[in-house]
Amino acid sequence: MNDEVTDLYQEVILDHSRNPRNFGPAEGADLSAKGNNPLCGDRVTIFLKLNGDRISEVKFDARGCAISLASASMMTEMIKGKSIEEAKTLFRKFLALVTGENEIGAGPDLADLKTLSGVSRFPTRIKCATLSWHAMVGALNGIDEEIKTE
Ligand code: FES
Repeated sequence: MNDEVTDLYQEVILDHSRNPRNFGPAEGADLSAKGNNPLCGDRVTIFLKLNGDRISEVKFDARGCAISLASASMMTEMIKGKSIEEAKTLFRKFLALVTGENEIGAGPDLADLKTLSGVSRFPTRIKCATLSWHAMVGALNGIDEEIKTE
């Protein structure tokens, strides 16, 4: 990846981590789940409101590193308005991207999430990037207990 692209990617990640979108607890959520990264103890809670099988609102509350906050922020923007199945499919694609199974650009619908593809070279950072996603899918699957990235 050339330096300009790397800089752009870092800018997008920094912007989302400093000004996370859809941040804060949600009143009256239909579904919620907590995620925990045992490597660092950072936590995230995802709140979802549904309209039929569509995600009409999504918020998150978290304490975590820049990568985890940026990933959660981008995720909330991406899954709002999606159906439950579409959100789960997006999770699978994102997982493939950050674990290095996808070539960059292979998932046109991943948009800004592609800026996180660099974590594939750092196994511990993959957990940071996927923390909120595991919690989101856990919420959709009705899992009650805290979801770990392990
Ligand atoms: Fe804790 Fe990244 S260091 S989630």
